[in-house]
Amino acid sequence: MTRKLEPEFVGRTYDDFLFRPQKGVVTSRKEVSLRTRLSRRLSVELPIASANMDSVTGARMAKVMALEGGIGMVHRGMSIERQVESVAKVKRSHGHVVEQPLSLPRGATIGEAREFTRNHNITGILIEEGRGSGVLAGMLSNRDMPWTSGQEDRKVDEFMTPAAELITGAPDIGVDEAERRMFEHRIEKLPLVDERGKIRGLITKQDVILSRRRPYTSKDGKGRLLVGAAIGARGDFLERAAALLRGGADVLVMDIAHGHSEVMRQAIEAFRARFASAELIAGNVGTAEGATFLRDLGADGIKVGIGPGRGCRTRLETAAGVPQLQAIREAWCAVGDAVPIMADGGVGDDKDIFLALVCGASTVMLGSMLSGTDEAPGHLILDPGSGEKRKIYRGMTSPQAVLEALYDDTGEAVEAALEVPAEGQEVQIPYRGSVLDILGRIRGHLRSAVSYGGGEALAEVRGRVLEDPMRYLVPLSEAARRESYDR
Ligand code: XMP
Repeated sequence: MTRKLEPEFVGRTYDDFLFRPQKGVVTSRKEVSLRTRLSRRLSVELPIASANMDSVTGARMAKVMALEGGIGMVHRGMSIERQVESVAKVKRSHGHVVEQPLSLPRGATIGEAREFTRNHNITGILIEEGRGSGVLAGMLSNRDMPWTSGQEDRKVDEFMTPAAELITGAPDIGVDEAERRMFEHRIEKLPLVDERGKIRGLITKQDVILSRRRPYTSKDGKGRLLVGAAIGARGDFLERAAALLRGGADVLVMDIAHGHSEVMRQAIEAFRARFASAELIAGNVGTAEGATFLRDLGADGIKVGIGPGRGCRTRLETAAGVPQLQAIREAWCAVGDAVPIMADGGVGDDKDIFLALVCGASTVMLGSMLSGTDEAPGHLILDPGSGEKRKIYRGMTSPQAVLEALYDDTGEAVEAALEVPAEGQEVQIPYRGSVLDILGRIRGHLRSAVSYGGGEALAEVRGRVLEDPMRYLVPLSEAARRESYDR
């Protein structure tokens, strides 16, 4: 399917339109579904991805993104091992089953155990017979740890509850049965062991409660959180991809500044030759030609956005770019919903997300809006003048990010750093607390927008608007824009 871009979109972006309110049919906003496609084979309940930037998405952000129904794309400004470990952290957490629970051997000391729980932020440790044996010897919870001084060299097996006294479950136990058993015995952790006594998983009360409270959490077929990771298109990208896929990444993001390029063609072809069925979102492009190019190469998702990002200087420095709403619409007119579009960059207000979605995007990637939160990597800075708390947000090709990459331990980062001119910049973002509040706000506003759109589900309103957008969009004059946005 190829449609002609409506002329009203040329040169236009988010602040150029309002949405014409339709007769509302929603009685309870809570029931409005925001379900959408992330890529050819994956769907999510909140149409938001956190950007694969080193000031936005590490393991902590990716975890919360998935819990809240979206997805986080772990950045690649680190060694392959560290990135794989970040992905593994997300996969290990908060599913109903922790598949490979962390454990210490019987002979470990209390000092080691204390450090272990602190480092991994866990409240209890499974103890195995010998290192690597995988055989359950017992469990040491925080409550079991001695709190009087001078005990750090004693062994964990003096304090743990031995396996024979533990309530356990079979590896294939259902969540309901696990919950019943934990309640019956008033326990908070249920180790799963097979008939040979080997550790096969762990179910925690906290995870079961969380999964009940958040029916929208993004999960894979085994109930583990969904997570994405960036790989780039040069250097070690295939090795990185292989390691990330082995580590459990559900989708990979291959993005470069100019995705409609020979470099990209070669990269996707090499990727597909090795990983025929891995889910791949590729970008960035900003035109109809760019979108069909990526579709024809076999991308499962197309990332759209040339230069709208907050930390981005591409348009200023090269004049290359397409206003973001035009780019989204062009891409959709070219590929339709055959390959879901991810609108990347330039979102300043929640209404931009809704406009992106009803004009063609299936998900929206956010950078600056999610940075400045507790879950984004980076330290808080206190501005000495204003006393304001801030966090750094920086473009991935900002001089600061590039300089850091020069000192990274991967050859690829060095190569990329030397090649890319600085098309990004660093800005300080006011500290915004937890990203949970931001995602809750976005969910609420999107549900309201769907209600104004006259539907009960995002997909329904989106489907209608996509067919005939100018029936629903109101182009704004300068005066109308002032009336709408000057506050
Ligand atoms: P927002 O507006 O949400 O944008 O902060 C996030 C997106 O910005 C892109 N990005 C860059 N673009 N030079 C660029 O041209 C850069 O250094 C840079 N760093 C990030 C990226 O697509 C991200 O998702």
